[in-house]
Amino acid sequence: MIVVGNLKMYMTYEDVLNYKDNIPDDVIICPSSIFIPYFLNHNYQVGIQDISMYDLGSHTGDIGAKQAKDMGVSYTIIGHSERRNKETDEEINKKIKKALENNLKVILCIGENKDEDKNNKLKNQLLTDLDGVDLDNIIIAYEPIWCIGTGITPTNVQIEDTINFIKSIVNDNFKKSVKVLYGGSVDKNNIDTLKKIDNVAGFLIGKASTDCVHLKEIVDSLR
Ligand code: PGA
Repeated sequence: MIVVGNLKMYMTYEDVLNYKDNIPDDVIICPSSIFIPYFLNHNYQVGIQDISMYDLGSHTGDIGAKQAKDMGVSYTIIGHSERRNKETDEEINKKIKKALENNLKVILCIGENKDEDKNNKLKNQLLTDLDGVDLDNIIIAYEPIWCIGTGITPTNVQIEDTINFIKSIVNDNFKKSVKVLYGGSVDKNNIDTLKKIDNVAGFLIGKASTDCVHLKEIVDSLR
């Protein structure tokens, strides 16, 4: 099972120093970009939480895919719901292409608000975000927005059905099979239930991943 820790903007410098050497092997950890050098050269992979859609140049505040790759980053999250209100699906598509051009693997987040037509929303996101993209190095993370940071998760049946829907859209339109993660309020209390979902390839974990003991309990339950 793939385990991704999205540390968001939770940690102080001191937190990072206490955390970086205590992360389980083989997970993918996505810290704030400014702390990435502290996470390199461990037995886990490092991801960046977002990436620029542009080549190197005059883009204040952006981080280029080439810069991340050259530093030793392996993955990038793209399209997280906490960023989607600042970017369009067309921009997300450009970011994905720029990441892949620079040999970063992509974790593409998609998900719906509670009041939205789920299937329609996910289909539109997938078709625009992945247009013209080679899917070999893409992992999809299904993250219902109403479950992020809320302590609420869908039922296993709901998640399984949605993952099947995502896989069928990708297969029908791009003739490829993709791995799909679930994300949104995953923690040590619900992982034993969530891991029973047949078609889930792993989990994208936010808040619970910021505590290395908590993260290890989740990883131990999956291994
Ligand atoms: P959460 O966040 O685990 O804190 O709900 C997940 C995410 O936003 O990736």
